[in-house]
Amino acid sequence: MSVPLMPRRAFLASALPALAGTVLGAEQETRPAPLGISLQQEPLRYELDALEPYLDAVTLKLHYHEYHAKHLAEFRRTLDDVELSVGSVTSLMPCIKSIKRPPQVRQSILQLSLANSRPATGVQSELPEDVQKSIRQHGGAHVNHTIFWRFLAPSEDTPLGPSGRASQAIDDEFGTLQEFKKAFTAAAMKHSGSGWAWLVYRPDKKLVITTTPNEDNPLMKEFVDWREHGRVILALDLWEHSYYAKYKNNRRAYIDAWWKVVNWEFVDKAHAIVRGIYNHS
Ligand SMILES: [Fe+2]
Repeated sequence: MSVPLMPRRAFLASALPALAGTVLGAEQETRPAPLGISLQQEPLRYELDALEPYLDAVTLKLHYHEYHAKHLAEFRRTLDDVELSVGSVTSLMPCIKSIKRPPQVRQSILQLSLANSRPATGVQSELPEDVQKSIRQHGGAHVNHTIFWRFLAPSEDTPLGPSGRASQAIDDEFGTLQEFKKAFTAAAMKHSGSGWAWLVYRPDKKLVITTTPNEDNPLMKEFVDWREHGRVILALDLWEHSYYAKYKNNRRAYIDAWWKVVNWEFVDKAHAIVRGIYNHS
């Protein structure tokens, strides 16, 4: 099964509000919440076989419709269980450990208050550890995969590299695009086990390459080193489910193929949006 193909220009036009606005509920879509991700799976903006031969349709279908979808379902269940509503999933990522549950009146307090004819008081508390763990894992997976899909495009539709300010920033930091790709590939190859590789735009304007284990990401400032905290402007899934069916254990072949379908136009757009988020000129 494939998803409807959206023209590339339409994709960029439609994705930008999602990057720039809170997207939980249509009425909130225009609120400013940069890099916002909703509690829905964004439709893929390309056919499932459009990334062939580099990323195969069978893997992409399983990855998107089963793997990502299951994580999202589990994440939603977790939020429902603790009656936690979030306007933007990205805004939850930096505060998983510290976010407080909304005041809730426990039944015992309510009964006590009624017996004493005193008004019941609300109770704020941090999320239980298993809930935090679930948000970190399943919420992280939802965010990471949503970002990953955004930065892919059919090879014939995408330029060979970024342009404009993103291109300049990469050159300034890494020398050339080729040097950057070499360093990113090396970091991804060096990462042991499951996880993600990222190009991160830090609040101090610096671009850094980093990797995170499992479903962590650079937005999770409670879990990543401050040097690796920032906004993602390129993402690579390093879990074997991303490539094993086609590439077996050959992660290097998968990475080399992935470079062919990187959506550089979107890297440019994301770089511009993130500069805006940080009020950088
Ligand atoms: Fe994945």
